[in-house]
Order: sequence, then structure tokens, then C-alpha cells
Amino acid sequence: MSESKPAPSDAVQSTSPAKPYYERHIFFCLNERKSGEACCSQQGAQAAFDHCKARIKSLGLSAPGQVRVNKAGCLDRCAGGPVAVVYPEGTWYSFVDNADIDEIVESHLKNGQPVTRLITPPEVGR
Ligand code: FES
Repeated sequence: MSESKPAPSDAVQSTSPAKPYYERHIFFCLNERKSGEACCSQQGAQAAFDHCKARIKSLGLSAPGQVRVNKAGCLDRCAGGPVAVVYPEGTWYSFVDNADIDEIVESHLKNGQPVTRLITPPEVGR
């Protein structure tokens, strides 16, 4: 007895996302180093994450298919910390305070316009 499998091209077509699962997805580095080495958690990352999550919810943007706010471990761009990255664009941000988070939420997560002044310079790494 043999089962017919879909041709590979059929499989690709059926799984190709016409639309991403989330319209936008932001990951905040919340890494904490016990050694005392610099890390995003020492620079207010948890408060920024909490603020962003609350803001997205209060704006009614947290429904399925909209904006997802997630925690991440070290994203290996510690020198620019605290950092967050937004997909699907892959835009990296270095932020300072809640006003920066509000601007990222309003401009990028809600309206699709990256906040140029907060973008992490490309040469910034660990
Ligand atoms: S500790 Fe945040 S990017 Fe490394």
C-alpha cells in the first residue's frame, strides 16, 4: 500500500507565508550577567520590555496576527545595549527610556516606519 505525498512544489506553496504569523515581532534582550559584566538587564531592559508589552496591549495591538512582544537572552550586540530587534524587517534598536519605547511602538510596531534615530549602528556587536 502506498500513500501519495504532495510534490515538493506543492508543499512549498502550501507553507509559503503570504503574510507573517505576526505583523511585527519585537524581541528584547533581558540577559543578566551575574559576573558584573555589562548586560542589558543592568540598563533597564526589563522595565522597557514591561512598558512595551503594556503599551501594545493598551493600544489593542496584541491580538493574533498583530504585534508580539517577547523576551530574549543575549542577542550578542551587548555594546549597544539595551537592545531590541523588530521582525520581519530585522531592525535593531538601542533605546534609553520609555519615551524611546513609545516611539518604537507608535512609529514602527503600529505604523511600519522604523525610528531611524534609535537604530543600533551596524558595527556594534558584543
Ligand atoms: S546582554 Fe543584551 S545583547 Fe548581550
